[in-house]
Amino acid sequence: MNLIVAIDGPAASGKGTIAKKLAEYFNLSYLDTGILYRAVALQMLTEGMNEKDIRAAKKVARQVSITTIDHTGIRAREVSDLSSKIATIPGVRQELLERQRRFAQNPDPSKDGVILDGRDIGTVVCPEADFKIFITADLEIRAKRRWKELLQSDPTVIYCEVLEEMRSRDERDTNRKDAPLVVASDSIVINSSNMSIDVSFEAAKNWILSRRF
Ligand code: DC
Repeated sequence: MNLIVAIDGPAASGKGTIAKKLAEYFNLSYLDTGILYRAVALQMLTEGMNEKDIRAAKKVARQVSITTIDHTGIRAREVSDLSSKIATIPGVRQELLERQRRFAQNPDPSKDGVILDGRDIGTVVCPEADFKIFITADLEIRAKRRWKELLQSDPTVIYCEVLEEMRSRDERDTNRKDAPLVVASDSIVINSSNMSIDVSFEAAKNWILSRRF
């Protein structure tokens, strides 16, 4: 049995936490696809590469391997920003698409399938997914969540800056030509603005259970 669950949505919508909980509940292998774009951005920043160098970005993307990504510093704000910029480059997306598809098509034999989260899972990476869930929340609410997270490691973080960074990332992710963030036509939408992550998880879980078992 290879169940494929696609989770999409904007930054800080809660999709990662919900995907992890679904992975545990339904015994699925989980891939946070944003990590791949972040790994490219982090390496470019670490090596001082020009962020507009498309060939360099493609070359770095070709070398990314899901199993060896070092997560240190991968959630930093500059990495978030650059990851959404390099994600607009079709050649970078093409390199990373292959890895994501390979992950989806070769599940761990001890698992009952896979769950991937990102921006284009239901539309491009796994259009054949058995379940597609789009998780969103109002911009201000997502920015507040991310700001509170960042405050834990840096008490000087300013909310308005986090809000503006998230607004421009949303705009870039939604308006790019290649694989933009959109709701797949056969996806359900969960708006977590006024719901806790646990309640949103229950909604996603119950929807899958109601259709599957
Ligand atoms: O999910 P995240 O915030 O870690 O993703 C970082 C960036 O990577 C996001 O702003 C856009 C890009 N991304 C993408 O274009 N497609 C995906 N499937 C996942 C992430």
